[in-house]
Amino acid sequence: MLEPLATVDHMLLRPEGKGTIRALSRIGYELPAAIADIIDNSIDAEATRVEVTFLRNDHEITAVTIADDGRGMDMAALRTGMQFAGRTDHDAGDLGTYGMGLKSASFSQSKTMTVISRQSGNVVASRWSVEAIDNDWRCEVLDPVKAGNVFDELCLRGKAPSCGTLVIWERLDRLVVSQQADALDEYLSTAMPRLEAHLGLTFHRFLESGALSIAIVVRHERRALALPRPVRPHNPFHYPNPGASGWPKALDCEFPGLGTLSLDAHIWPAGSSADGFLLGSRKGVEHQGFYFYRNNRLIQAGGWNGVVKGDQDPELLLARVAIELPPAGIDVNVQKSALQVTASQAQALLAASDGEVDLEDFLEAARAAIRASRRTARGPGTAPAVPGQGVAMRIRRAAHKRIAGAKQAEEIGFAWGELDDGQVFNLDLTDMMIVLNREYRQAILDGSSASAADAPLVKLLLFQLYKDDFGRQRSSRKLREHVDLTNALLFEIIKIRLKDHDD
Ligand SMILES: Nc1ncnc2c1ncn2[C@@H]1O[C@H](COP(=O)(O)OP(=O)(O)OP(=O)(O)O)[C@@H](O)[C@H]1O
Ligand SMILES: [Mg+2]
Repeated sequence: MLEPLATVDHMLLRPEGKGTIRALSRIGYELPAAIADIIDNSIDAEATRVEVTFLRNDHEITAVTIADDGRGMDMAALRTGMQFAGRTDHDAGDLGTYGMGLKSASFSQSKTMTVISRQSGNVVASRWSVEAIDNDWRCEVLDPVKAGNVFDELCLRGKAPSCGTLVIWERLDRLVVSQQADALDEYLSTAMPRLEAHLGLTFHRFLESGALSIAIVVRHERRALALPRPVRPHNPFHYPNPGASGWPKALDCEFPGLGTLSLDAHIWPAGSSADGFLLGSRKGVEHQGFYFYRNNRLIQAGGWNGVVKGDQDPELLLARVAIELPPAGIDVNVQKSALQVTASQAQALLAASDGEVDLEDFLEAARAAIRASRRTARGPGTAPAVPGQGVAMRIRRAAHKRIAGAKQAEEIGFAWGELDDGQVFNLDLTDMMIVLNREYRQAILDGSSASAADAPLVKLLLFQLYKDDFGRQRSSRKLREHVDLTNALLFEIIKIRLKDHDD
């Protein structure tokens, strides 16, 4: 035990303003996540309407406003609300937890943040700027009459609510585009659909239930007309029929530190171009994985939290799992965009089960579904497989002649890549490749020199052994067991060779 050290004095150490804000503004909010964090507060204030407005001139965005018709704030609430990590009593059903979102999201995008709020006919207003923070954290209280005028003009335009809140971001250092003509139009043409997609996904349950509507408006300072773009719900689980019979299934998971969680394991139908599947991307492959919801707000949209290697496995394209989190007791990052999962929690997720099938079975079923769809897409009379890149051209030609004659054939290539320890090779059924473990290249070559077409015997034998599986004739579990066994046998040789090399 360390001997207790006596205190002899105290130093009052307030956080240094500018440095704190610089650090805070770099915690990694993207614009859509920052705006979502502000909308969380509107939902907690029971707003039914939210309007996000981008005020612009020809070259720049001069302000972003987020307006709601929620319950608003009085001066005491505004004071706590403006304070960093200010303590607000939250209900279990609230989206807010840290007392930080308003400030951290605002300063991630801007250097000045103003809040004007109306409650029971009274307007209160306050402003934070980087300079004010640097000036000993002195938050400005603003003239309520003038603030009331701004509220009437900007809050839910044309129909300012009797109570509600308007958040204004100015000096938007993160939204600067070049001064070139059209640069801003170009930026907005991609940024606005991205924002709509993010908000529509994050709040899809609120939007679907009709409890909330969100609109995005881009308003040019010299033009009167600005059409609001309504945010549509993008439900990542909204498909007509599942991609495999028997799914979705609810799997129970004993989640360390939280108790029982229910995992709703879904398999999307293959080939979907539905909005909920693509979620604004081209193929949807980055949207596989876990969808964590808390109080109906989507916290994490996809990704496997280390439970599955990689987050964009083409074989798991169709696999999505919805998980409801309890209101408290789980580590969510400040941006509310991801869940921090410990190693033992990841293990628990993998072991989730309904007594008959577990998460691994689900992953296998999702893999089988995508393979089955590819098989159907290719149809009967599929072209025969021939060895492709990674084998000498002479051998490839000879093999093609013997296997396919003059017919079309599908090539299976070979590559040296990164694989797990003990794994000598693996099949990449999507990219039609046999991957050999780069770590064991010397051991496999056993004295021969490395080249693009090295290890022809091993490659051709693996090709002969597994070529039919690229046409997906075996069930995926059986195939996996077979690959594991072959790997284990080959690894026995590798181990001896590695030892010989060491000696
Ligand atoms: N639009 C709003 N309407 C009413 N009150 C608001 C609004 N925005 C902020 N507040 C008040 O300000 C407080 C601080 O908001 P802030 O987003 O910083 O923290 P939080 O929501 O409590 O927690 P979190 O950091 O998880 O978002 C809120 O708890 C709420 O009381
Ligand atoms: Mg908040």
